[in-house]
Amino acid sequence: MADNVQVNIDGKTLECPIIVGTEGDKAFDIGKLRSTTNFITMDPGFGNTGSCKSAITYLDGEKGVLRYRGIPIEQLAEKSTFVETSYLLIYGRLPNQKELEAFSDAFTEHSMIHEDMKNLFDAYPSTAHPMASLSAMVCSMSAYYPELIKENPTKEEIDRIAVQLLSKIRTICAFSHKKSIGEAFVYPRHDLRYVPNFLNMMFDSPTNPYKMTDEVVRAMQVLLILHADHEQNCSTSTVRLVGSSHANLYASISAGICALWGPLHGGANQAVIEMLEEIQANGGDVLKYIAKAKDKNDSFRLMGFGHRVYKNFDPRAKIIKKCADDLLNKLGIHDPLLDLAKRMEEAALKDEYFIARKLYPNVDFYSGIIYRAIGIPLNMFPVMFAIGRMPGWIAHWKEMIQDPTTKIGRPFQIYIGAPKTDYTPIEQR
Ligand code: ACO
Repeated sequence: MADNVQVNIDGKTLECPIIVGTEGDKAFDIGKLRSTTNFITMDPGFGNTGSCKSAITYLDGEKGVLRYRGIPIEQLAEKSTFVETSYLLIYGRLPNQKELEAFSDAFTEHSMIHEDMKNLFDAYPSTAHPMASLSAMVCSMSAYYPELIKENPTKEEIDRIAVQLLSKIRTICAFSHKKSIGEAFVYPRHDLRYVPNFLNMMFDSPTNPYKMTDEVVRAMQVLLILHADHEQNCSTSTVRLVGSSHANLYASISAGICALWGPLHGGANQAVIEMLEEIQANGGDVLKYIAKAKDKNDSFRLMGFGHRVYKNFDPRAKIIKKCADDLLNKLGIHDPLLDLAKRMEEAALKDEYFIARKLYPNVDFYSGIIYRAIGIPLNMFPVMFAIGRMPGWIAHWKEMIQDPTTKIGRPFQIYIGAPKTDYTPIEQR
């Protein structure tokens, strides 16, 4: 293969170096295009634009491949834990026993949030979406731990913020749930590991002690692992872009949480269940809603379907569908929404519109069924996604900030507004 791509515009020639990734992904570097030819490239939605080189996650949308640090997602979902997978993403390799224990212990040590932060929950109306309070709380952590806010944090300082964020997000999420249902906060326990501790803080109460089951803990582990990273998606790109201005990690992740909130991204898990409930309430006519999704004059979309990158299947959706089936069977739950979701998937996959556009269920199509079975309220679904995505955001922020070639993110535009116009004094308008 050639080393360069030649771009010829208006008699000017630019040699663009070719970059090839570990798995053969190819790009050419157009960094000097504007200074050489006065042209920029246009790619709204970044459907064809690489923003960085990254060694964290590999995905092949055509083949349905997803790997964290080279390890297939299927193996991690079956054998790993969320804490171990977080270590893998952030530090680039699997931990040994001692490292894993030290990492886990650090979560226990940092699980409490500053007592004063509890007042912030009181300031929020009970109607607030928990993603609003989560984003605000994560950004506010910068005020409570100012000693870690530095423009060029050391490796040790980054590690401390990472552990704090991973641990405290769990407590913040559980507290915001308790606040929304008007119950007293349940504090983190030192004898419980990451996922059991979270479930206990969410569901335990003095009048109704939480009965934890291995099946629920495992299902939650799987969901968190599957959400842990997904390379340059909307929220991760947001974290990188905000961080590229040297904004601190708390601020960058707070922005990522806001990006995740939208129904086209992490808010889709909530939107899927709302859609299924609506279809069920209106008689369960799957084909009617498929027709609505296809109708270009109707804004309705089949939530949980389609993906920018996956064009054959989303490997996470495959694992989650099986996980949902297994969990509901083990818990003896019959959820009519699961039947409806399966009928919907079957009908869509036979439909020419969905086939032609390569639209398949994504990670969020079945995840909500599992959250429902576990007892997580609907508006907390995107929050669960945020807990899962935390190690990915941290790993990307760290990779970006430690890369000496990183520049502040600053795209260009083509201006299409008014030409130069003189100011008119108000009395002459
Ligand atoms: N229902 C109906 N039609 C769809 C859907 C859908 N869910 N998704 C895409 N299409 C159609 C579009 O209308 C478009 O049709 P056209 O070519 O006739 O104009 C075509 O498929 C391509 O869709 P785009 O919107 O251009 O694809 P893009 O890559 O920009 O969007 C996205 C991907 C946002 C995920 C989209 O498929 C979607 O809105 N899905 C529903 C929301 C969802 O599930 N989001 C979660 C994604 S996974 C995640 O973020 C964790």
